[in-house]
Amino acid sequence: MIPVNEPRIGPREQEYVMECLQTGWISSEGRFIQAFEQAWADYCGMKYGVAVSNGTTALQLAVACLDLQPGDEVILPTFTIISCAQAITYNGGTPVLVDSDPLTWCMDVNQVEAKITPRTKAIMPVHIYGHPVDMDPLWAIAKKYNLVLIEDAAEAHGGEYKGVHCGSLGDLSCFSFYANKIVTTGEGGMVLTNSETHAARVQSLRNLCFQKERRFYHTALGHNFRMTNIQAALGLAQVENIEASVEHKRWMAREYGARLDQYKLLQLPVEKEWAKNVYWMYGMVLDPASGMTAADFAKRLAGRGIMTRPFFLGMHEQPVFLNRGWFVNEKYPVAEHIARQGLYLPSGLALNMDQLEEVCQVVGEELAAGQ
Ligand SMILES: Cc1ncc(COP(=O)(O)O)c(C=O)c1O
Repeated sequence: MIPVNEPRIGPREQEYVMECLQTGWISSEGRFIQAFEQAWADYCGMKYGVAVSNGTTALQLAVACLDLQPGDEVILPTFTIISCAQAITYNGGTPVLVDSDPLTWCMDVNQVEAKITPRTKAIMPVHIYGHPVDMDPLWAIAKKYNLVLIEDAAEAHGGEYKGVHCGSLGDLSCFSFYANKIVTTGEGGMVLTNSETHAARVQSLRNLCFQKERRFYHTALGHNFRMTNIQAALGLAQVENIEASVEHKRWMAREYGARLDQYKLLQLPVEKEWAKNVYWMYGMVLDPASGMTAADFAKRLAGRGIMTRPFFLGMHEQPVFLNRGWFVNEKYPVAEHIARQGLYLPSGLALNMDQLEEVCQVVGEELAAGQ
């Protein structure tokens, strides 16, 4: 089987992790936490980094900084992971959805302004599969309506919008460092911000709102969303190598593109002129004229030893939200189409040329066989 993801763990990662084991700094204190937070904040171009347990908790704590009141709204793409929507609901807010751009698969920024109400507090752009969201229109809307921008850059480590790194395009940005991410800590996440107030709030919330003056005295309720020193050690070594990792993803995209572009039934990833796409995962959308859904095609590929993953299913199609009476009868045709026809190919940092060529060969054969 060619796996959909395989991380790249080098000697520096082993060295740093061993240091934790040898010195006994294995929980959430130790030199690597701050070093990793600072290295990632510096790389992305933000002032403060607060490491947390995963990308889902990063989003939850970033949204907590909004102090949402029941009925307050946050606009986000329907086509994303549930972590984004539940960060809003767990903080008492209401998610409001927009459809995707048919080419980048990111939120269609032209639909945002029509969704603004007096209750709108924030917009949450999500850079999908490594391609940045078109931020200029969002900045204009945020300014006009005094909204906070919470960027979900979990999938776009190293990506750029008009030469500026993803993760420094909003008021707060959130990252995941899950094993399939470009920078991984196994499990892990981070919130970046230039606001000292937000950073202090996230730091407090991730650690049970312990007070500096008297530890077991609480004026608020928090969580244990801490990252361990071992994870941060892994992450620091990964950040030191990020340029090579991003280059590997871009190499992968060039090579996939060169071989798959001939198939008119496949819609391949794009890179807008204002974007640096890091191709976190090499996605594609299958034309229904192929006679197959993505699930049919994935089954065929799996039968030939090629693992894939389906695209997201929109938030407006999730029973957990429909059962609450949300998004009923809302239609987002682009998200619905790509949810049914989209999948991504093996895209890990350990993917080599032989594997990539085999994937392309099998994709071509199975496309022909499916017709
Ligand atoms: C866009 C996006 N946001 C958030 C997350 C959640 O991150 P985690 O799995 O670390 O909780 C993911 C996970 O893959 C993601 O792709």
